[in-house]
Amino acid sequence: MKYNKLGNTGLKVSALSFGTMTFGDDWNIGFEDQKRADEMVDMSIDAGINLFDTADVYSYGVSEEMLGKAVKNRRQDLVIATKVMGAMSDDVNDRGLSRFHMMNSVENSLRRLGTDYIDLYQLHAFDENTPLEETLRTLEDLVNQGKVRYIGMSNHAAWQIAKGLGISDRNGWPRYASAQMHYSLINRDIEHEVVPLAEEEGMGILVWSPLNGGYLTGKYRKNEDDDSRFATSDLQDFPPIPDKKVANEIVDNLTEIGSNHGVGPAEVALAWLMERPAVSSVLIGSRKTEQLKANLKAAEIELTQDEYDRLTEISEPRTPYPQWMLNMM
Ligand SMILES: NC(=O)c1ccc[n+]([C@@H]2O[C@H](COP(=O)([O-])OP(=O)(O)OC[C@H]3O[C@@H](n4cnc5c(N)ncnc54)[C@H](OP(=O)(O)O)[C@@H]3O)[C@@H](O)[C@H]2O)c1
Repeated sequence: MKYNKLGNTGLKVSALSFGTMTFGDDWNIGFEDQKRADEMVDMSIDAGINLFDTADVYSYGVSEEMLGKAVKNRRQDLVIATKVMGAMSDDVNDRGLSRFHMMNSVENSLRRLGTDYIDLYQLHAFDENTPLEETLRTLEDLVNQGKVRYIGMSNHAAWQIAKGLGISDRNGWPRYASAQMHYSLINRDIEHEVVPLAEEEGMGILVWSPLNGGYLTGKYRKNEDDDSRFATSDLQDFPPIPDKKVANEIVDNLTEIGSNHGVGPAEVALAWLMERPAVSSVLIGSRKTEQLKANLKAAEIELTQDEYDRLTEISEPRTPYPQWMLNMM
């Protein structure tokens, strides 16, 4: 396993990390069996993974609870990341990034995780209803209280991140160490604005849904797996696939390259992401232990330059304005 710095911080995180959105089954994408969760965490640690990601909203607290139980004997060696923002009940204040909700939420996450600190506390998305100063000031307090060690965010536009960094710098508050963003060979949108910003500002990208919800495993192309996410869950077409023809061409290329390395398409898709600029870690997700076993092999693959370039070329997104003009100038 390779280890990368989390952005400009001194913290080293494994190039593959484990996402626990499948712990709990509120959206029909996961499971509630603690034994399987324990096994998955053990397998991940044995493979060298030190970063585990969850969120308060994943099955409304169940994921945090299951992860907390699975890591309890090794808590100190691991980097535990969770998130705040999503609605946890119908109460008008039980959501968002207000000081009120964040102060309540952090206590609930700590309790569910069975820990007294969170290594990386992430804003799950941008909250238009709360002044960003209020949110960042609250994070500064949580860091000073020792409840949170590093801060990050997820699902932000580049201007929202840049605004947050400006506010933090002006006030001497902690800066976002990481940006947790969707990135896959099917959806490379973050390359236009967020990746250049991350490189410029020293933030690490944590990649979510690297297999585009499972599509890049190739199983949907073969109609192989009927109980899988795109077929049966509440999260169908998440993340979306803008052009099935292009997506299928990507899967075919992954399959062919995988056969050179004795692995499947998923492992190759993960290996490509691990090489992309600004990426600190790729969050793998699995519903079954065999899936995790396969995905962990990505850490052992070395793509040749030709293979890497071929995947980059066939999945190349359209260059939006002003990038094409900036490139020209
Ligand atoms: N910040 C955010 O807003 C956000 C959003 C989403 C996810 N995340 C994070 O990112 C992590 C990973 O996301 P994700 O679960 O969507 O990742 P993903 O890798 O795109 O999809 C994982 C799913 O694909 C299928 N799969 C994975 N490996 C497979 C294999 N080798 N063979 C066959 N099927 C396989 C499984 O689902 P089936 O068996 O059901 O097909 C698995 O649950 C999450 O756990 C979470 O920590 C964050």
